[in-house]
Amino acid sequence: MYKPSEGLAEPPVAPWDESAAGEEHEALIQFMYMAPIGLVQLSEDGTVRMANPMTVQLLLPVAPGGDLSNFFTTLEGPAPELRALAAFTGPEEGPVIQDHRVAVPALRNPSGYPLVLAISLLRLGRDHLMALVSDVSEAVLRETQLRAAEAWHKQSLTLALEAAETADRAKSEFLANISHELRTPMHAISSFARLGQERFDAAPREKLGRYFDNIDGSATRLMRLLNDLLDLAKIEAGKLTYVFKLQDASALLQSLVGEFQAMANSRGVRLEFTSPPTAMRAELDDGRFRQALANLLSNAIKFSPEGGTVTVELRLGVIASGAETLVVEVADQGPGIPADEMDLIFDKFAQSSKTKTGAGGAGLGLPIASELIAAHGGCLSVENRPTGGARFRVETPLLREPAATETSLDVA
Ligand SMILES: Nc1ncnc2c1ncn2[C@@H]1O[C@H](COP(=O)(O)OP(=O)(O)O)[C@@H](O)[C@H]1O
Ligand SMILES: [Mg+2]
Repeated sequence: MYKPSEGLAEPPVAPWDESAAGEEHEALIQFMYMAPIGLVQLSEDGTVRMANPMTVQLLLPVAPGGDLSNFFTTLEGPAPELRALAAFTGPEEGPVIQDHRVAVPALRNPSGYPLVLAISLLRLGRDHLMALVSDVSEAVLRETQLRAAEAWHKQSLTLALEAAETADRAKSEFLANISHELRTPMHAISSFARLGQERFDAAPREKLGRYFDNIDGSATRLMRLLNDLLDLAKIEAGKLTYVFKLQDASALLQSLVGEFQAMANSRGVRLEFTSPPTAMRAELDDGRFRQALANLLSNAIKFSPEGGTVTVELRLGVIASGAETLVVEVADQGPGIPADEMDLIFDKFAQSSKTKTGAGGAGLGLPIASELIAAHGGCLSVENRPTGGARFRVETPLLREPAATETSLDVA
């Protein structure tokens, strides 16, 4: 039996098999000694008769106490068949080959991978078994990595496919919505223009005037829609640019409310604006902040009942961090927003079930407004007033977060 204490320098000898001595046996010993893989000659009961240096190198860490004699019969783990070698009863003829992989994750191979041994058993003649032992840790690891990479690849393909399908659906919905919104005013423009042409000579002036009013209204609506679409496209492409300037928010809102006075008057809606007595300086992009607030104001007036009041209130707020904020609330006495549609109305082309009667526009105002406010570092929210009507609230920091600058050390 091979004793590890005999060292690896000498070929393993086989004192247990004197009778087999001879040239053939010597040749076998030499061959085993040179072989670059682990070779083990086993007796019928599975005990080790002879093991070459490569086997010793491979199995020493796994063989308790360095004793290989019963390694194959005491082997634990995923290859219980190996233990059954003790009762070796395979077919007597032919090279019975059994392949096993024995993982010994607690041990590492010389490259540092968890040890995995490939053990193949083959019959040599009637009562001899030979085990080929090799370290397949790296191959196994590569295989595992390959499988993981394949699985990952497959998963990312599935995700990409799903995303593409969703995007495709969104695009189709978008096109359906947009063609409807574009076609309606276009159709009105061409119809009234044709009517005007046909009745140019016969129709009274007031009637012709109404045709022109209709054409003008539809063209304005079309222009507004195209502007919104353009803004949305820029926002989504991250191409909308902002110029933030410290300015008096109170004056900005005062002038904006003034611009909506005519619209409010024409609908019999009262428009009220309250603000702190002193100037309220905040860092804003004048045009973009106005644009966001203008949509809130136009919605409030549009959805107000005749005789209703729309209030715009500007005041100073404070957030948890202690930072001061600018708060603008636009409140009306209209239908309000159904509780379960509070999020929905911020989606593109979405309108609440309470206003689907045609009073609304294309449904792009709120998604654009909330993006514009977000670009100011603030947020846009909505709630229903206890007394009826909706209250939209804009809150943004007075001063924007300073851009990350390099910290400089004072070396005075
Ligand atoms: N003040 C409001 N009162 C009630 N509903 C509102 C109000 N503002 C917005 N909404 C609802 O949100 C929807 C989306 O608004 P918006 O994005 O500005 O689009 P649009 O004004 O073109 O309809 C409106 O159609 C309406 O259903
Ligand atoms: Mg709107």
